[in-house]
Amino acid sequence: MKKTILTGLRPTGNLHLGHLFGAGQNWVKLQDDYNFYLEIADVQALTDNFDNPDKVRKNVKEITMDLLAIGIDPQKVNLFIQSQIPEIAELTVFYSNLVTIARLHRNPTVKSEIEQKKELFGNEGESITYGFLGYPVSQAADITAFDGELVPVGEDQLPLIEQCREIVRKFNSIYGETLREPQAYLSKTTRIKGLDGNDKMGKSLGNAIYLVDDDETISKKIMGAITDPNKIKKDDPANPDVCMVYYYHKLVNSEDNVKTICAECQKGARGCVQCKKELIAKMNEFLNPIRNRRKQYEEHPELVDQILKEGTAIAREKSKEQMAKVKKAMKIDY
Ligand code: TRP
Repeated sequence: MKKTILTGLRPTGNLHLGHLFGAGQNWVKLQDDYNFYLEIADVQALTDNFDNPDKVRKNVKEITMDLLAIGIDPQKVNLFIQSQIPEIAELTVFYSNLVTIARLHRNPTVKSEIEQKKELFGNEGESITYGFLGYPVSQAADITAFDGELVPVGEDQLPLIEQCREIVRKFNSIYGETLREPQAYLSKTTRIKGLDGNDKMGKSLGNAIYLVDDDETISKKIMGAITDPNKIKKDDPANPDVCMVYYYHKLVNSEDNVKTICAECQKGARGCVQCKKELIAKMNEFLNPIRNRRKQYEEHPELVDQILKEGTAIAREKSKEQMAKVKKAMKIDY
């Protein structure tokens, strides 16, 4: 029997290269060997976008198309929408008794998100909702509703998995062995730097290359990418290691080309404009198969609806099973 893995993502924006080289590639690899539930976490997205339902709704479809475009195969993966699984909401209520408010405040991921919000909106007390503080509880429900065994996530999510494990242990200790303690499944991923040289590519940082960017947008972004500031003239020798153009060549160009680019740049035998133009061509070449796959779904949105509907139906079967066990253990199985 294949092991069950469960992971999720918030539909708040399109996928960019950071997602692709990070979680995305990894998920595509895992889909052959596991019973895979991939949740579009719209309820979680609403915890800090509750006043923007249009954005969340739009991005459910956008993210699904992005995932299909990078090679997530709906025959192998149950792609489903969190809000369509009422058992997740029910479990969240039951689990909320098993976690203290102090513990939620100590969750490092939540803590740093609250810090960010404070910077943006000032007074924490006024901006942090009960729903936001509690989203780790809801994420524990996401995982256990499908009997998730492994959760492939990045390091930033480890505190959420730990919180889920604690909830499971508490549940089992009070109501009897019922739930499985999931494990984080960390795998080596590449963190992609932004166009501005920032260590992280991110939507909020405004430094991302999106999978949906068209040729013109790619050109504009790459022409504006950070290069070695000490290189003034075309034939000045420069340091490729501080150049974002070189950095992206390494991602999408061949090893041989990268070697040549490096040597020419160091010798002052390569101008930045030419180097950027070459990168634009390679980046488009790299993105084209993804764009083409995405286009099929853009032209047939009913296919996307169908995929989500089928994935959600399969997920719902499982969550109902889990719910029956939970209610029995809690003696609320009337
Ligand atoms: N919190 C995750 C993120 O922000 C998304 C997510 C929602 C998730 N539910 C999940 C991840 C369940 C793993 C398991 O990226």
